[in-house]
Amino acid sequence: MSARNAFPLPGHLPMSIQKEARKITTHTLQEMKRAGERISMLTAYDFSTARIIDDAGIDVILVGDSASNVMAGHETTLPITLDQMIYHASSVVRAVQRALVVVDLPFGSYQGNSKEALNSAIRIMKESGAHSVKLEGGANVRESVERIISAGVPVMGHLGLTPQSIYKFGTYVVRAREKEEAQRLMEDARLLETIGCFAIVLEKIPASLARKVASTLKIPVIGIGAGGETDGQVLVLHDMMGINKDFSPRFLRRYLNLYDDMKNAAQQYIRDVQSGDFPNQEEQY
Ligand code: KIV
Repeated sequence: MSARNAFPLPGHLPMSIQKEARKITTHTLQEMKRAGERISMLTAYDFSTARIIDDAGIDVILVGDSASNVMAGHETTLPITLDQMIYHASSVVRAVQRALVVVDLPFGSYQGNSKEALNSAIRIMKESGAHSVKLEGGANVRESVERIISAGVPVMGHLGLTPQSIYKFGTYVVRAREKEEAQRLMEDARLLETIGCFAIVLEKIPASLARKVASTLKIPVIGIGAGGETDGQVLVLHDMMGINKDFSPRFLRRYLNLYDDMKNAAQQYIRDVQSGDFPNQEEQY
C-alpha cells in the first residue's frame, strides 16, 4: 500500500462503513468524535493478541503499562521499564494493520524532566514504530507534554485514577468525587487539550464528571470506569477476556472466561498425555 493510500482522507461514507478501508489516525479519532461515533480501545502487549483485535476492527490499541501487572505479575505499574515497553510495543506494531497504536510512557521516564520525557517518547516512536504515546497527569507534566508534542509526537493524556501515582493515592477507589478534585481534573483536561493532546483517558471517576469533560472538550475523551457518555471506552484485554480471575471492579464487563477455559484445556491435555491418548495415529509422522 502506498503511503498516500495508507492514510485516506475521510470520504462521504459514514466512518463506520469506511472502517475496513482506512487506517486509524489521531485525526480519524477527532472526526469520529465530531460524527458522534464511539471509539473502541483495548490493551495488547504481544503480536498474536494485537493481530486478533486489529482484525476484529478495534480503533485503538493501547500498549499499556498494565503489562507490568498482567504480563509480568507485578503488583503495580511502577516497575516496568522503557526497554520493556518498547519490546511490547514493537511486537504489537508488527501485527497491526489498521488500529492506532498508543504506548504508555512508563513511570520515571517523563515526570519532572521534559528533556528525558522527549527522549523517552522518541525512543518509543523510533524503536517500536508506534504512532503515539500516553502519559499520566495534567499541569504537573505540562512541560513534558509540550516538549513531546513540539517534536511531532502525538500525546494522549490520562487523568482521574492514574495508577503510576498509586502510592500517593494509597488506594484504587474512585477519584474526583469531591468538588475540589473534580474542578482540578476539569482544569487539567482543558489544559491538556489546549497544549495539543489528541485525546484523553479518564479512569475511574463519576460518570457525571466524565460526561461534563467529554462535552466540554473538542478532543476525544475515552473512559474506563467513567460511565457511558464519554467518546469511547477502553478496557484491559486480560480483564475483559476473563484471563484475570481476581480483578472484578464494577466497571468491568467480562466477555469470556478464558482463565477457566484455558485451565480446562490444559487439564485435558495433561490427561491425554498421561493416558497416551495424545498423540494419536493421525498426529504423528
Ligand atoms: O495501562 C493501561 O492499561 C491503561 C488503561 C487502564 C487505560 O492505562
